[in-house]
Amino acid sequence: MLSDKANHETIIQLKMKKGILGMIAMLSMTFTGAFGQTSALNIEVNAKKPVAQINPHMYGVFFEDINFGADGGLYAELIKNRSFEFTDSPLMGWTSYGKVQIKDENPCFERNPHYANLTFNGELRGCGLINEGFRGIGIKKGETYKLSFYARTPEAAKIRVEFFDSNNNQVQNLTIDVVSKEWSKVSADLTATFTDSHARIRLGLITKGSVDMDHISLFPKNTFKGRENGLRQDLAQALADLHPGVLRFPGGCIVEGNELTSRYQWKNTVGKVENRPCNENRWNYEFQNRFAPDYFQSYGLGFFEFFQLAEDIGATALPVLNVGMSCQYARAKELVPLNELDPYIQDAIDLIEFANGQTSTKWGALRAEMGHPAPFGLKYLAVGNEQWGAQYPERLELFVKELRIKHPEIEIIGSSGPSAEGKDFEYLWPEMKRLKVDLVDEHYYKAPEWFLNNAARYDQYDRKGPKVFAGEYAAHTRNKRNNFEAALAEAAFMTGLERNADIVRLATYAPLFAHKDAWQWGPDLIWFDNLSMYKTPNYFVQQMYAMNKGTDVLAMTMDKKAITGQQNLYASAALDKSSNEIILKIANTQENELNAAITLNGIKQAKALKCITFTGNPTDENSLEKPVNIVPSETALPTCLNNVVSISLKGKSFTIVRIAKEK
Ligand code: AHR
Repeated sequence: MLSDKANHETIIQLKMKKGILGMIAMLSMTFTGAFGQTSALNIEVNAKKPVAQINPHMYGVFFEDINFGADGGLYAELIKNRSFEFTDSPLMGWTSYGKVQIKDENPCFERNPHYANLTFNGELRGCGLINEGFRGIGIKKGETYKLSFYARTPEAAKIRVEFFDSNNNQVQNLTIDVVSKEWSKVSADLTATFTDSHARIRLGLITKGSVDMDHISLFPKNTFKGRENGLRQDLAQALADLHPGVLRFPGGCIVEGNELTSRYQWKNTVGKVENRPCNENRWNYEFQNRFAPDYFQSYGLGFFEFFQLAEDIGATALPVLNVGMSCQYARAKELVPLNELDPYIQDAIDLIEFANGQTSTKWGALRAEMGHPAPFGLKYLAVGNEQWGAQYPERLELFVKELRIKHPEIEIIGSSGPSAEGKDFEYLWPEMKRLKVDLVDEHYYKAPEWFLNNAARYDQYDRKGPKVFAGEYAAHTRNKRNNFEAALAEAAFMTGLERNADIVRLATYAPLFAHKDAWQWGPDLIWFDNLSMYKTPNYFVQQMYAMNKGTDVLAMTMDKKAITGQQNLYASAALDKSSNEIILKIANTQENELNAAITLNGIKQAKALKCITFTGNPTDENSLEKPVNIVPSETALPTCLNNVVSISLKGKSFTIVRIAKEK
């Protein structure tokens, strides 16, 4: 650190160069004047010459159906196992009473053939089905819900629908007539008269006879953008509010599957929602001592909905496809022989047609039929998730060859394995260079200290090979909490992503969602229960970056060096060409306040427009009870004198300053 005197002198020398205006200002306000008696760090920004362009899609989110992220989470369906298709137990999620049988003769939906047959002969106990929802059904008083099911009956029948609260009291009911002898859809709207996060629904046959029922569904009317088969309003809105540039989906390990048969197959997730075959979720097993034995994918949130969501929230879509390998962490470790890989490669080609093809093509026509004739504008495609070993590049190579011929416009993303260093990583990077993929996906779930120590990680990366996609990362504290300590470490580390925006083109925090009663993996960006949600400190860091990314990187130095942890300071600067503003991002990870004098070389007059500060104690968190316990806030603007910005950086803080510049 510079001594007070040296610091003072440097500032005076700088100011001497500023001519008469600067000298007058200097007389009235020296640097010690701005900061009382405290010394200031001298930081310089070269505002004249941007050093790299920032990808407009740089900061984004990674969605995986883990922690009840899709079914039971973002996907607004409230009935679990609505199609009676969970493999081991078609009645999973349901309790039946009376004579209820699962049948599949002459089904309503050929790819989801099971249905429930209810037969009632006047027995005292009655006959029907009770659904438990996803760890309960969340119902809000005053909200309207759409109940629907498919049914057929030889004689007209009545179904009594009853809602029970978590104390097992019947709180609301209605009766629905079923008259059709052929399968037909029956639906009714109801406005809730109660609020409960753990309600249940009962459907009972109350007239003598028999009824077949399938795809029993309950949706809030108020979904994101009011769509049928839509997304939970609050969770989708939280994504929109983040302003992500990219949406990576649908995983993660679920792309790979516990076995190849249960891998994520996008073609099973498009078309009529009732006919999308249900699949076992990769996370339907014990992980970190958390067991979710009822974790299946209805695929109601499928690839069409992902593309639509990306478009709705202003993000570019980044789908991940299976490369012909099941999850290497799971037991089966299956491989598709190289000479049997064609259907997998065809899935990739067809996906591009589904996203971008003309409506006259097979898959483009399906997209149009689903409601989106215009292309989605897919640019990126990842093949493989966290693969490792020689089997991966062997398989990826075949994809790359075909994709380069048929779709040279698509940027291909390869993997560097599950870790940010070590032998798999060191083997895969040269392999990815050999295959000339466009980007390499790196994953790191590491301690906060690792993030702080790695702020300069990308400074020395080879600029000639593939670019980097930081596809999964999060700081994991000892107890894996979403606290401010983790968020600040991520903020500090991300200054290094931004400084290296020429090579780091995309970055997505992971994972995204977690249901507080059904999670396997923490930390996560957004937590929720059946009625409400909260944003973590980590969310706010991502939001601060996404909303202040700028268009170009400016060199920012202290003692002529990039600021990567000296004095526990981490910083980057960007120019926003559209607004002609300079955006400074500075993390101070030490306990004490630091003062900085930031000289913006190349401009005459700086004018601070906005200062956002995020500060707190390392253990501070948000929660469902206290959702805004720790949030960033707008704070007093720093002083600007000519081209020098004088700022006090609170201990343990992340600050963003937006500055208008005048040449
Ligand atoms: O994000 C959770 C999991 O972490 C992902 O499924 C996988 O890619 C990684 O191991």
